[in-house]
This record gives sequence, C-alpha cells and structure tokens, in this order.
Amino acid sequence: MNSKVNSTINSTINSKTETQENSYIEQAKPAPNVYIDSGLSLLNVEEGHRIQGMVRGAAKKHLGNRFSLNAGLPLWPSSFFNLDKAQVFVNAKTCDKEEVVRLCSQGLVEESLIIEKCGMAFCAKMSALADSIDERMFYNLMSAEEAIHYHQISQFLPDGGAGVSPNPFHLLLARLIENGDRDSLVFIIQVVLEGWGISHYKVLADSCTDPQFCFELREILKDESRHHGVGVIFSKQRGLNELSRDFVVEVMVEFLQMVQLGPQAVVNAVEVVLGQLSREHKIELFQQLDGEKESAASLQTLRSLMLQNGGEAIVQRLDIHHSFTPYSAENCL
Ligand SMILES: [Fe+2]
Ligand SMILES: [Fe+2]
Repeated sequence: MNSKVNSTINSTINSKTETQENSYIEQAKPAPNVYIDSGLSLLNVEEGHRIQGMVRGAAKKHLGNRFSLNAGLPLWPSSFFNLDKAQVFVNAKTCDKEEVVRLCSQGLVEESLIIEKCGMAFCAKMSALADSIDERMFYNLMSAEEAIHYHQISQFLPDGGAGVSPNPFHLLLARLIENGDRDSLVFIIQVVLEGWGISHYKVLADSCTDPQFCFELREILKDESRHHGVGVIFSKQRGLNELSRDFVVEVMVEFLQMVQLGPQAVVNAVEVVLGQLSREHKIELFQQLDGEKESAASLQTLRSLMLQNGGEAIVQRLDIHHSFTPYSAENCL
C-alpha cells in the first residue's frame, strides 16, 4: 500500500473517529428547551371584545358553515361507558340514568377540550425550538389546527367549556409541556399521545350519537394523523439522549398509572348522581364496568406505539415498573 493511500485511510479513520466523538458529545448535551406557560389557567376575553371578531373571522375561514353548531350533550349512549352492565346504574331512576350519561359525556368532551388547549402551547414551544423554516411552518400550521379543534369541541359544552377545570392528566400534560425538552416532547406528545389520540378519537366517532360531533371528530382525526406522522419522522431522525430518555420514563410512569387506574371518571359520575358508594359496591362497579379489560387494551396500544417507534429501551424500563399491567378493581380505589 503506498503512503498516499495510507494517509487517505488514516485521515478517513481520524475524521470518522472525530465525527463519532463529536456525535457522542452532541448526544450527551441536553436537547433544546425553552420554558413556556402551558396556559391552563388562561381565560377568554370578555364577551364583545373586538379581538373575538378577528378570531371568529379566522375560524370561519377554516370551518365555513360548521363555525356555529347547534349542539348539546349527551353524545354517547350508556352502553359506550359499559353502564348497562352495572347493577347500580340499571336499578336507578330514568332521570338519574340520563344525568350519569350526560356527566360521562361531558367529562370526555372536557378532557379533549383541555388537551386541545395544551396543544396550542405545545406548538408555540415547538415553533420556538424549530431548526428549519419548514419545521417552524409545520408547528405554526399545527397550532392553527389545534386552535380550530378547541373551537369545534367547545361548541358541545355548556357555556363553551368556560368553567372547565383541569384533571390530574391535564396537570401532568401541562407540566410536561412547560418543562420537557424538544426531543422528549416529540416522543411523548406526538408519537405516543397523539398516536393514542387517533385510536381514541376514532372510537369516540364510531359510537357518537350526534352526527355533527361525529363529523367534527373525523375532521380532527385527519389532522391528528398528520401531527403524529411528523412526530414519528422527527423522533426517528433525532432519537433520544440519555437525559431525555430518563425524563420520558419518569413522565410515562405517571401517565400510565392514570390509565392503570381504570374508569375513574365513570365511577365518579355515578357517585355524583347516585350518592357515595360503599367500598364493596365500588369494587363491584369497577368490575361490572370491565375497567381492567378496557385499561389492558389501552395500555397495550400505548406499549405498541412506543415499540414501533424506537422506544424499546423505554418500554423495557416501564416493564420493570409494571406500567402496562392494569390495576385490579380493589387497587383502583
Ligand atoms: Fe388536536
Ligand atoms: Fe394534534
């Protein structure tokens, strides 16, 4: 081998080693981050404020005739919540049954409303952290879509959802958006939660009794599929460094625990209308609502989403925490 070839090989090896070292240094650095207020406590402006006209005009451009709907609750039948299998519900008066189903519907719509509200903050943060014009354009367009989803969903709630208060899942989501680094957020929000949101919204649309809300859900689904798809691309391209992976595991343990705990909102609605249940009756209710089976299915969907999108190491660590095993009815109390 002549010396020219030798020096070319050496310089290639050296530059490769340097690149590997540089990429290692790059990997060890925390992923980009910036603090943003998630806006959970933000309120609407007063009725008649001039900015409302501007927002409405922009929303009408997207929604046309669907801008203003004549909507109301409930949106799903009692069987959707498995209430027909629960003795305490079957034995209740018709007016109480209606109220339980209305509250369960309201809870689902409120949950989506606050998720869309958090979605706007998420996109604002991701736009600020973008490292290309195309990435910034994508997150700004996504932000507009989340704002439209917020408007679409708010129409189905009393008072446009003005008095809705966040549940523990929303508080976790808000904390995550405020503090999470860019790469962790792409993985948790776009890959896992929006991926899960696609199947969740599809189930909601398939069983919805109101054709208007069903249509809106299917429109939202199209956007969510795109949000998830772009998340998958960025996640594969950038991966997760050690710090981000630790953060993802920490957040997912807490989030999965909420899924492991079963249909708490349905049990809560039953108690609000029919009065507090004894421990024994509450366990019976959880069992009759098929909570363990439903949670197992959701946990499996979430596990698959992580496994299919480069989250094998994360799933391994979550398995150690038994995060994909639903709690028994006794442990849901
Ligand atoms: Fe959305
Ligand atoms: Fe989305």
